[in-house]
Amino acid sequence: MQSWNGTVTLITGASGGIGAALAREMAKTGATLVLIARRDGLLTALRDEISKTRAQITMTSYPLDITNAPAVDRMIDDVVRRFNRIDVLINNAAYGIDSLFVDTPMAAEREIFETNLFASLYLMKKVLPIMERQGGGKIMNIGSVVGHRAMPLMSSYCATKSALKAYTESLRVEYAKKGVQVMYASPGHTQTEFLAHQKRFGVTHRRGVPTTPMTVDTCARLLVKALNKNRRDTILTGIGKLGIFVNRFFPSLLDRVLLSRV
Ligand SMILES: NC(=O)c1ccc[n+]([C@@H]2O[C@H](COP(=O)([O-])OP(=O)(O)OC[C@H]3O[C@@H](n4cnc5c(N)ncnc54)[C@H](OP(=O)(O)O)[C@@H]3O)[C@@H](O)[C@H]2O)c1
Repeated sequence: MQSWNGTVTLITGASGGIGAALAREMAKTGATLVLIARRDGLLTALRDEISKTRAQITMTSYPLDITNAPAVDRMIDDVVRRFNRIDVLINNAAYGIDSLFVDTPMAAEREIFETNLFASLYLMKKVLPIMERQGGGKIMNIGSVVGHRAMPLMSSYCATKSALKAYTESLRVEYAKKGVQVMYASPGHTQTEFLAHQKRFGVTHRRGVPTTPMTVDTCARLLVKALNKNRRDTILTGIGKLGIFVNRFFPSLLDRVLLSRV
């Protein structure tokens, strides 16, 4: 395990699922943790849990909605005042919409972009100058396999992840000479509350996900490994890699497979 002693890591969506598992995994590296999500009680419980086994870890949490720009400004100012640096930003907070395109209200299309895309962009706009000034840093944008190839019944979610991938690719090159690594990582089906947190509109036709989910601990371990190795674009699951390969060379075959889901 690479040591991150003396460095500061921000994780959004740290109150549960992959974000909380990432906090537990990053705690093993000795990094100072800044945990961000709306549910304060869960953030406090996570801090208590981590500090029981890793008393030496410095942790702080900010209960805020990442779409609230003034709250994000105050959080960043406070982190810089307290720790004087930000070394890692993991843009992890997001949610899904499980609905037919025509049933998804326009307001919901805009809202999901606010959380899944624009909030991450805003955080990067705040953090990149700090990283550049201090001579380096790492940003990991948590995407999805469906950011590589969109699926039916989740068009808006797929579009947010695909747009985040495009920004990541641009920024990766823009910041390469400035010592800042900008990465995209794509979990596949992972055992979290993600499906329970999805918004739904109209009649949902969606069947269960036909794969065994990855555990959050495995997911977090693979993500921290990718972070350590500066992997530009990590796909975490075998089925995800297969789907992206099939889509690249036989897109109409994948269309036919996906027709069974509609
Ligand atoms: N689970 C999967 O199968 C899967 C697959 C591919 C990609 N992913 C990606 O992995 C990431 C984590 O998802 P997950 O599976 O861990 O989902 P999850 O269990 O639903 O967790 C989502 C986290 O995001 C936070 N969040 C959502 N909206 C927020 C907001 N407006 N402001 C602040 N925090 C917010 C939630 O905290 P609060 O409610 O406390 O704010 C929660 O901590 C997401 O980017 C997701 O797209 C997941």
